[in-house]
Amino acid sequence: MKTRIGILSAGRDCPGINSAIHWLVNSALDKDLVPRRGMMFEVIGIVDGWKGLVEVNPDKKDSLKRWTLPLDVDMVRTWDRYGGTRLGTSVTNPFDPKKDMSEALIKNYRKLGLEALVVIGGYDNLGVAHKLFREGVKVVAIPKTIDKDLSETEYTLGFDSAVNIITQDIDRLRITAGSHSRIFIVESMGRKAGWLALEGGEATGAAIILIPEHDFVLERVIELLKLLKKAGKRYSIVLVSEGAKPRGMEEVHEKRGQDGFGNFFLGGVGGFIAQEVEKQTNLEVRYVALRHLQRGGSPTAFDRRMGRKFGIAAVDMIVNEDFGRMASWKQGEVTTVPLKKVLERLSLVDVEKFYNTKNYRSLDQVL
Ligand code: F6P
Repeated sequence: MKTRIGILSAGRDCPGINSAIHWLVNSALDKDLVPRRGMMFEVIGIVDGWKGLVEVNPDKKDSLKRWTLPLDVDMVRTWDRYGGTRLGTSVTNPFDPKKDMSEALIKNYRKLGLEALVVIGGYDNLGVAHKLFREGVKVVAIPKTIDKDLSETEYTLGFDSAVNIITQDIDRLRITAGSHSRIFIVESMGRKAGWLALEGGEATGAAIILIPEHDFVLERVIELLKLLKKAGKRYSIVLVSEGAKPRGMEEVHEKRGQDGFGNFFLGGVGGFIAQEVEKQTNLEVRYVALRHLQRGGSPTAFDRRMGRKFGIAAVDMIVNEDFGRMASWKQGEVTTVPLKKVLERLSLVDVEKFYNTKNYRSLDQVL
């Protein structure tokens, strides 16, 4: 008898998800491990995240074909090197108070004969995973989000790839910035946590870094830019998280409203800063929002390796009946942590430890 496990990616995509799926399938179907485990697996991919599990009609062949994908080693052979998610994903909240779909989801989970569910997700979707666990679904989770804002783990899939894209893009921008002697305001993602801007800023030596954890004073940003100019800098890069905000103001968001989890679609703070700097100085400014470029492309070596570790860990967790938990990276080792604990808080930049609130950059002291 084979134990049938389901796997889905929920919420936003990122590089590293496919690596996790590749290695999960390879580990789950590894015949050499059967004697040690005393069990055999079958892996079913759920298409488009929670939406697939809500929409699928397990009694209809066509529906099964649309929303599920039986996975084997041959099928996932090359997946590890591709970004995004080959299973597809969606931003769907099955527990949306306006339209609760959780009953249908749980019914389908059971009808599909699934005995465990692997969820690759960020904060909101791990919240869904935890609720399902409380309803009796045997859930294990893999952390992913380019924002790296999940607590109880030092790494979330996608982050390293995104920081590398930020680094490469700023390397490109500094060439044209230098030629024209311009200021570039570069906006990264990072809704609540400033890790992308902070670490991208460290990697590129950005002159000014603005993060959501510390509200900035616009006049100070302008003053710093003028000082840099006076000191002879031909150009400056300001790297700002989409979630950063000027003191006394709200985050800048798009007009599109909120997603199924009540999050506003952020974006535009860099444009606001660019406009103000041009208005209040004689500096020439350009604004670039990196947006979804940061979430695209193929995974870095680190994301592939972490995908491998987390994918294999998810199978081990099922074997050990370690349900309701998330694979986690702590002090150079894979471990597991309860989802309940993960959901208690977000992992934000410790401003006192890492950020220079006077000059708006990484702290200049490391010891
Ligand atoms: O949660 C990850 C993230 O990349 C955030 O940094 C960003 O605000 C959001 O996703 C963008 O979401 P969407 O793809 O729906 O525009």
